[in-house]
Amino acid sequence: MSQRLRHLTTLEHLPRETIERLLDRAETMREGCAHGTRKLELLSGRTILNLFFEPSTRTRTSFELAARRLGADVINFDIGFSSTSKGEALFDTLHTLEAMHLDAIVVRHKVSGTPEELVRHAMSGVSVINAGDGNRAHPTQGLLDMLTIRQHRPDFSRLTVVICGDVKHSRVARSDVHALTALGAKEIRLCSPKALMPSPDEFPQCVITEDFDAAIEGADAVIMLRLQKERMAVTDLPDEAAYFTRYGLDNRRLERASKGALVMHPGPINRGIEIASEVADGPQSRILEQVGNGVFVRMAVLAEVLGR
Ligand code: NCD
Repeated sequence: MSQRLRHLTTLEHLPRETIERLLDRAETMREGCAHGTRKLELLSGRTILNLFFEPSTRTRTSFELAARRLGADVINFDIGFSSTSKGEALFDTLHTLEAMHLDAIVVRHKVSGTPEELVRHAMSGVSVINAGDGNRAHPTQGLLDMLTIRQHRPDFSRLTVVICGDVKHSRVARSDVHALTALGAKEIRLCSPKALMPSPDEFPQCVITEDFDAAIEGADAVIMLRLQKERMAVTDLPDEAAYFTRYGLDNRRLERASKGALVMHPGPINRGIEIASEVADGPQSRILEQVGNGVFVRMAVLAEVLGR
């Protein structure tokens, strides 16, 4: 059996068995919660801190729910009211918070690599979970995407996935590619306009293209990404109407994918920019399933790193 994780900062280089164990554990959590809100007491007496330096709706709420459903105490550290806005260094903040006896820190930060920095500087045995760092990794989103795919298409060796949109700035795309690679997906296609394309050296295992009509052909899962303007240089910004014409997902384009292909998006969605409402709210949309799976995946990760 692969070793238990003490931290979760990225999915890159995680062995397949570890990813599968976390997904299986998320399924167990779902059953344990009776598919709803029943509480388990696996982490009672433990304290988990949500340390979010960037805005978040889904990720923060679902980490909080996950911790509460495991019986843990949760603190939400609001950066707007904290000393970091008075210029306190990140590591001073870390040590101050650690002195209050925390068991895990869930961190989101705009600077790539912050979670590893916290692991390196932590003085106590606190576990660190990455809730998104820069454009680098968003491991729990990668896991919840895999759980959602696996529930509908369990055989990854027959799976063709297209990830379309602002790949360059997307930590979700990176974590999805890491997980899909580990799970042995048949083909991973990345599609975006040139200005939003990552360097092909970073993704030697993927097919990279600017042509969405070709990329979506026969795909079993279509993962759409938001234009992440907050991470773009002004010159990268595409005209939104023109963008939708070439890269937007509407019913007509979805017909090119395999029958019943899964439509996914990490949220928040921009209707009419990367996805049409007819698709986002349509029968093939798995977007709200992803959100629901997010809670079970985060329960699994918290239980894993806190060792019960
Ligand atoms: C993503 C993120 O923050 O990286 N959202 C999320 O966690 N659900 C994607 C995005 O912001 O577009």
